[in-house]
Amino acid sequence: MVVGSEGSILRILVQSDSVEVGSILKVQDHFCIVSSMGYSEDEKIGSRQRLIAEAEVFGRLEGGRLHKVKKPVRPHERVEFASKEELERLLSVDDKISIGRVYGTEARALLNAGEYDRHIAVLASTGAGKSYTAANLIKEFSLLGLPVLVVDTHGEYQKLLAKLAEKTPLNIVVYTVKYGRQGLEQLKIPVSNLNATDFMHFANLNDNQVYALEVVLNNIVAKKVEEDYDLNDIIKSCDEIIGRAVDDKSSDVHEETAKAVKRRISGLARTFRDVFDLKGTDLSKLVVPYQITIIDASLATQTVRQSVVSYVSKKILQGRISKVQEIGIDTIEHPVLLVVEEAHNYAGDKVTGSCKFQLQRIASEGRKFGVGLCVISQKPSKIDEEILSQCNTGIYMHITNPNDKDHIKKSFESVNEDIVRGLDSLDVGECIITGAMLDIPFLMCTVDRIELKEKKQSKFNFKKQAKVTSGKFGYV
Ligand SMILES: Nc1ncnc2c1ncn2[C@@H]1O[C@H](COP(=O)(O)OP(=O)(O)OP(=O)(O)O)[C@@H](O)[C@H]1O
Ligand SMILES: [Mg+2]
Repeated sequence: MVVGSEGSILRILVQSDSVEVGSILKVQDHFCIVSSMGYSEDEKIGSRQRLIAEAEVFGRLEGGRLHKVKKPVRPHERVEFASKEELERLLSVDDKISIGRVYGTEARALLNAGEYDRHIAVLASTGAGKSYTAANLIKEFSLLGLPVLVVDTHGEYQKLLAKLAEKTPLNIVVYTVKYGRQGLEQLKIPVSNLNATDFMHFANLNDNQVYALEVVLNNIVAKKVEEDYDLNDIIKSCDEIIGRAVDDKSSDVHEETAKAVKRRISGLARTFRDVFDLKGTDLSKLVVPYQITIIDASLATQTVRQSVVSYVSKKILQGRISKVQEIGIDTIEHPVLLVVEEAHNYAGDKVTGSCKFQLQRIASEGRKFGVGLCVISQKPSKIDEEILSQCNTGIYMHITNPNDKDHIKKSFESVNEDIVRGLDSLDVGECIITGAMLDIPFLMCTVDRIELKEKKQSKFNFKKQAKVTSGKFGYV
């Protein structure tokens, strides 16, 4: 029963054991969601301590559509649970996807897929179920046809998505980085397609060094008959520019600067062996409708991973700008969702270099060009605040760390104290969703399980080495 009603906030006297934080309730034709619960006593409910739920009214169903409510609900009205059909009607939108059920019910938790380009953050402590949730999300977007590109830091998505593909066919393409694997293509970056500033993805260059590299690259282009060149050609060209600087002290590139550029490029030749090549991967093959493209960077070093993410995200955004503004160079034909696992490694506030900058650009400009970003992380407080605050949909799972909670509260408009408090009590596979993909203040969801065969065994399952006796001695 409603015992208090002010604005959109209701105080409800609870008589059912099934009411919990996140329950969606109905008062006449108004719907509300329980945001907190506690025992209290007052003159309206008597002197005994009674269980009171505080709930936020979010709308009224009329003609199958949710309408905003302009006046408070009358007190003393009877409150009941919203039915499965009502819940699905409340959440229904044109382009809907679903990653699980509304908590405590059989109703599907429907989200508005059209808001993918206002960016998504999946945040939780380690082991809370982020990757499983992201795999469900990726599958759902792909079933609508949206190209999805996944930066897979731990090499886990191929297995998860292959399992999901047993139920609904999915087109999954995997590229590895730096190391080949049987049957999979390797992602390659074309050296001759990079300009001097592009090299900042791979090495920290100052302005003078970028200018010197421009001179070095122009020197190659001026001499070469074929279009494509590799790092060795750049190193040779550095030697020529160094020679020129030694002969002519008034040359526009200083000898020491040219030498520094040569050292950096030589360093790249070692770190990026098997990543750079002449032609490179055609990035438009990574953005194809109904295709999930996984960039498996699990075997590459952090520097290589960051450089690849930086390069790919820049080229994809540029390709989309080129398409939308009809520039016609290296266009990416289709919109895309870029999913970045372990995002604190690429968009961390301490990450230097161009990787974070490229992701910031997608977060702020991507929407105009159909590029959505989905960041996944177990260290929300380490992610650049500018990027997080551009993620208009938050999917939060179990989190206890107070710094992470604070950071979430600061970065997301749609998150209030009640939601943050609720994060402690979430089990594995449960999440709270807020923001652009929903028309209601928040939603608690039980994410669909992915039945991977995970062997349950002790971590201490070691085999003792056999003891060999020889002569009078025992050897292990
Ligand atoms: N929706 C779910 N329902 C039931 N169990 C789940 C669900 N999602 C995940 N799990 C279980 O939790 C485990 C951890 O899930 P997952 O790998 O997605 O966590 P994570 O948050 O990505 O962890 P990490 O920080 O290590 O990447 C899984 O191995 C699985 O057993
Ligand atoms: Mg994970």
